[in-house]
Amino acid sequence: MRAGPPGRGLSGRVSVPGDKSISHRALMFGALAVGTTEITGLLEGEDVLRTAAAMRALGAEVERVAPGHWRVAGRGVGGLVEPADVLDMGNSGTAARLICGLLAGHPLFAVLTGDASLRGRPMRRVTEPLSAVGARFTGRAGGRLPLAVEGAAEPVPLDYVLPVPSAQVKSAVLLAGLCARGITRVEEPEATRDHTENMLRHFGAVVRVEAEGHRRVIELEGQPELRAAPVVVPADPSSAAFPLVAALLVPGSAVTVEGVGLNPLRTGLFATLREMGADLAVSNARVEGGESVGDLTATFSALRGVEVPPGRAPSMIDEYPVLAVAAAFARGTTRMRGLGELRVKESDRLAATVALLAAAGVTAVVEGDDLVVTGDGSPAPGGGTVATQMDHRIAMSALVMGLAAARPVAVDDTGFIDTSFPGFAAMMNGLAGGDAIAPAAAP
Ligand code: S3P
Repeated sequence: MRAGPPGRGLSGRVSVPGDKSISHRALMFGALAVGTTEITGLLEGEDVLRTAAAMRALGAEVERVAPGHWRVAGRGVGGLVEPADVLDMGNSGTAARLICGLLAGHPLFAVLTGDASLRGRPMRRVTEPLSAVGARFTGRAGGRLPLAVEGAAEPVPLDYVLPVPSAQVKSAVLLAGLCARGITRVEEPEATRDHTENMLRHFGAVVRVEAEGHRRVIELEGQPELRAAPVVVPADPSSAAFPLVAALLVPGSAVTVEGVGLNPLRTGLFATLREMGADLAVSNARVEGGESVGDLTATFSALRGVEVPPGRAPSMIDEYPVLAVAAAFARGTTRMRGLGELRVKESDRLAATVALLAAAGVTAVVEGDDLVVTGDGSPAPGGGTVATQMDHRIAMSALVMGLAAARPVAVDDTGFIDTSFPGFAAMMNGLAGGDAIAPAAAP
């Protein structure tokens, strides 16, 4: 595909798909609850469909009632059954790591695999603590998938300090803790997204959270009876980021994205864009299904470079590629600090982001774990081809770059966009009023 300047501003009101993190968790908690959980607004992207298939393979009844409306009849905590075949998690690190936590607490055998991107990602960050719970893991060198899991018959509750700020690791330990007798305690030096804690409470578990600055301690009482509860999934702020940043960069634009999740542990990008001078307004703020949501309107803005502190990284960890695109249009230097974790995402996102910018004629440098982008306030040149590297967010960021740059930008493979944002190109074209994103002519 290729994205080029639309010749006019982007305008309109759109909805983006449901939150990926919440969608995975809704299916998993539905499978662990007693009774039938109704989920609305579920993201029907490839990643979440893998979780749905895995929950079926583990014995839950999972049914699609209507678009975004799913029903899960659960088996109760400790009630999952041994899957008859290998569980293929596709491109999804969240699915793979959280399911390791689920499996660790059940006395069963399972094998997890995924696509080439997922098979390259580190799993020790979950298998290490989950081994202390009593599960046994056998994987490839470096603790990578495919991974064989023997869950624990009598899982032990952990007292664990997260060595990396990762909601996936925190969630895996808490999910294993559901099956353990006693209190599982997780300490995180930097607060990460808290959808697991929120949903545990929503399904009836007892969870205590003590916050002290950025540090949090979470305690879960093991072996609760989780009861089915309806889940309303808000629109994903990580997906809303793409049309909103595009509107900030394409002159004459004003775009509203409706019902976006505004959980404070997810909104680092929006705070950063405002510091850069973005006109980004929230209206109709409300609470839906226990999460804060609002309509977000972005209007074309002249941006300036800022320093993004490392402590903000967990609240915008998936948004750095598109922030780097915005930084290329800002006047001055944007220094994004403390991005080491980007090296182990769907791609090495630090390198992939630098390559994306280079393809569009923008120089960016990596200094240690910092990404530094300097612009002069004029549009990036554009004109190159970006390698997606099996990473949906690199593909979408590159297409946003193409909409705003002086010349079109091509992307080698946009298939992975369906992992998190089915319908992305059509939605952006609707805002652009034409075929700004279209198949690229054969080279
Ligand atoms: C997620 C946590 C983050 C994020 C991912 C979703 C989650 O990963 O990048 O897209 O749903 O818990 P890490 O836990 O590796 O930071």
